[in-house]
Amino acid sequence: MKIAPSILDANFCTLQAEIDSLSMADRIHLDIMDGQYVPNLSFGHAVLKPIKFSNQIEAHLMVNNPENFFDMFHNLNCSIISFHIENTGREKAKLLLKNIQQRGLKAGICVDGYTSEDFLDDEILSLSDQILLMSVKAGFGGQTFMKSVLEKTKNLRARGYRNEIEIDGGVNINNVKKLKDAGADIAVVGSFLMKNDFEKRTQLIKDFQAI
Ligand code: DX5
Ligand code: ZN
Repeated sequence: MKIAPSILDANFCTLQAEIDSLSMADRIHLDIMDGQYVPNLSFGHAVLKPIKFSNQIEAHLMVNNPENFFDMFHNLNCSIISFHIENTGREKAKLLLKNIQQRGLKAGICVDGYTSEDFLDDEILSLSDQILLMSVKAGFGGQTFMKSVLEKTKNLRARGYRNEIEIDGGVNINNVKKLKDAGADIAVVGSFLMKNDFEKRTQLIKDFQAI
């Protein structure tokens, strides 16, 4: 299983060292929250700009009007930008996916924990380079995994979706095998990984990748 550590629970006083401790990971997951779409604030472009990333980075935009943030995260060299279907609706989502792709980036669509994957129509499936299925309600790290995401993943595969499916929220080493078996490719891991010291993080990243 690929792993994308979420730095939401990182120590931002020593952010470069925190990022460096994750260099083995497949990509770094940036949770961007605006206090509007979700009732929490995280970090933005200004905090990330001085940081050197050796991994691919992806932006998970939990914000209203996500298009306002595309330039910022493009300029930060994000490879993947994902936004939520719940706050754009289907038709705007299609335009925004194309906008991201026209920049030469991968475009992802996110589905919140309490939203049905049926909200994604076939055109959105064919446009999305990635689907990020949340297994918690967007907004906070450290929540309990919603196992309904397993069925959602299987349903998307049954509909013929072949690009990457990423699962985000409450993932740990005990539930990741089920995600893989359901058809997911990549796990976002926040608190389960980040509460550990650097040495243990390296071992855990290897453990996820071995599944
Ligand atoms: C929640 C975020 C997640 C979260 C993951 O809104 O999108 O990426 O930080 O953290 P854990 O793994 O602790 O659920
Ligand atoms: Zn996330």
